[in-house]
Amino acid sequence: MQARLVRSRPGTRGVTASPARLAHVAAGAIDVEALASVYTVVFREPPYSEPDASDLRRRLPIHAERPGFRLVTASVDDRVVGFAYGYTGEGRGRWIERLAAQLGTATAGRPLGGHLVLAELAVLPSVRGRGIGATLLDAMLRDRAEPRVLLQTHDGDTPAMRLYERAGFRRLAAMPPDVALIRDLP
Ligand SMILES: CC(C)(COP(=O)(O)OP(=O)(O)OC[C@H]1O[C@@H](n2cnc3c(N)ncnc32)[C@H](O)[C@@H]1OP(=O)(O)O)[C@@H](O)C(=O)NCCC(=O)NCCS
Repeated sequence: MQARLVRSRPGTRGVTASPARLAHVAAGAIDVEALASVYTVVFREPPYSEPDASDLRRRLPIHAERPGFRLVTASVDDRVVGFAYGYTGEGRGRWIERLAAQLGTATAGRPLGGHLVLAELAVLPSVRGRGIGATLLDAMLRDRAEPRVLLQTHDGDTPAMRLYERAGFRRLAAMPPDVALIRDLP
């Protein structure tokens, strides 16, 4: 595990201002339960309304085996308060086929596959609004070999959508009730 202290911006929404510590976690060193405890709180909120973290528990071990897997956690006072993970996507699979169908011929000359999939980004409500989400996103997108990043998020005026738009993502295709977003990587 590789940790570094991130410069924390002062909280202005009644949250404690302890600095968040970012860590890159290797696939073999994942504390799934620490992530599940964040996931359960974050994704039981609308518009997600997931009852528990079973979806994360099911897919994280599979995704952790994928090429290009990267997991970044944010901790405050040694407690995981947020995380993001992704991996290199293939040009096949259910999601990519649905996306290709939505895009029709628009993918000509720009084949899908070999992109970074940003699979998850979550920050506990108690520490939001102090830059942890933006810092996690930045750590996920830095120094990647892929030419672009794709993700799927709820299609609405959510904090996540605002964060992605600020980071330069643009709409690629509607996938109701979600939308696929894309951004080129440097
Ligand atoms: C999306 C999410 C990860 C953002 O986490 P976060 O840590 O609050 O993100 P940031 O602090 O970087 O930015 C959030 C807001 O705080 C603001 N902010 C950041 N630092 C700030 C500071 N020091 N003072 C005041 N405001 C600040 C940002 O401008 C942003 O404002 P906006 O949402 O009104 O546009 C979080 O809201 C979340 O977990 N949402 C639910 C899960 C989700 O939707 N995940 C994405 C699935 S694809």
